[in-house]
Amino acid sequence: MDILVVGSGGREHALIKKLKESPSCGRIICAPGNGGIAAEAETADVKATDIQGMVALAKEKKVGLAVIAPDDPLVLGMADAMEEEGIPAFGPSRLAARLEGSKLFAKNLMKEHGIPTANFVSFDRSSEAAAYIRKNKKYPIVVKADGLALGKGVLICQDEQQALDAVASIMEEKRFGRSGDKIVVEEYLTGPEVSVLCLTDGKTIKPMVSSMDHKRAYNDDAGPNTGGMGTIAPNPYYTEEIAETCMQRIFLPTIRAMQELGCPFKGCLYFGLMLTEKGPYVIEYNCRFGDPETQVVLPLLEGDLVELMMACRNGTLDQVPMSIKPGAAACVVMASGGYPGKYATGLPITGLDAAGGCNGVSVVHAGTRLDRGKFYTAGGRVLGIVATGNSLQDALLTAYAATTQIQFPGRHFRQDIGRKAVRAK
Ligand code: AMP
Ligand code: GLY
Repeated sequence: MDILVVGSGGREHALIKKLKESPSCGRIICAPGNGGIAAEAETADVKATDIQGMVALAKEKKVGLAVIAPDDPLVLGMADAMEEEGIPAFGPSRLAARLEGSKLFAKNLMKEHGIPTANFVSFDRSSEAAAYIRKNKKYPIVVKADGLALGKGVLICQDEQQALDAVASIMEEKRFGRSGDKIVVEEYLTGPEVSVLCLTDGKTIKPMVSSMDHKRAYNDDAGPNTGGMGTIAPNPYYTEEIAETCMQRIFLPTIRAMQELGCPFKGCLYFGLMLTEKGPYVIEYNCRFGDPETQVVLPLLEGDLVELMMACRNGTLDQVPMSIKPGAAACVVMASGGYPGKYATGLPITGLDAAGGCNGVSVVHAGTRLDRGKFYTAGGRVLGIVATGNSLQDALLTAYAATTQIQFPGRHFRQDIGRKAVRAK
């Protein structure tokens, strides 16, 4: 079966590597793709949010499955558009993607179904939000844009002035455009964070291995937020007991609630959880695979990803075997100098073959370009160096050893990915 993968990051490259392991995987076409993807699949120059262009590409290439990886095309309804043209799609419908596309939709769903999440209030007028904040005495407080904001729509405010500024920048200055027409103001929670990516066909839900992201740019969780500077799996805080609680109190109730609403969620549902003193709470839902979580979750997935994705779409996930491999995985993201701020692109990358040749290592491309056989930087997050091992320590040692092979001017990466997790064990 030929497969179209929509997207261009490390997540998409990791998905393609796993799809290719499946005996039923034929040709892979990726749009728009990146340099590393172009080296092992066909790429096409169609933007990930171009719904009509992507449907046309899927028809032209006669694919048997379209895997829609990023959030924005899903929220715009790309899965619906594919299905309307007879192309089987992996990814939720537009209505189901509201779990990520509207924080208010997600919060209301959780509240109605008793799914543990931070207490919140919502506003569609900045004056009312400001009045609420002036009365609030408890800090920090969290201000969130309702819609998609490239992962930047969450502002943790330490005092009244910061909270008022957050409201003004989201609702009046429209820092995130129409995504800031509404906001959610919520209670600040504390505890270790866990990402759990689950495959679901709308009725059955199967969690993949738990993971931990590292969102800040620098060591010791310092510096600005990024798209994610590294991940490890499994997450040591996520014990079997907590997993069972999450299944009963969070995962199944979420799936049932979406079914009741008439928009069953089919695809990969990502639960961003915080393990608070009162138990696991939902911080956010994502309607897709995480990036860079996918880079560590898929190497530990025992199962045929093509079959699993088709089963999510067809409602037969209960019939397809899937389990979690023993061992651990780590991903260290190598970023451009200056990221997440301004950075240069077009810089030559060396040592990719040497790094990729290390035992247990897979080099995942995120922001690269391939030009006449050579790779150049083309984004903020450039590469993910992924390693598996018997233990988390092994995986981390292997991944960090491989990073020393790779050079590009200004490269920076965290030296402490997984350190907290190793200590927690
Ligand atoms: P999100 O963009 O929803 O992934 O949120 C980004 C990050 O903000 C999360 O990973 C948490 O670290 C933090 N965050 C979001 N909501 C809360 C909350 N209610 N309390 C504490 N931290 C939060
Ligand atoms: N790594 C966080 C996300 O994919 O949203």
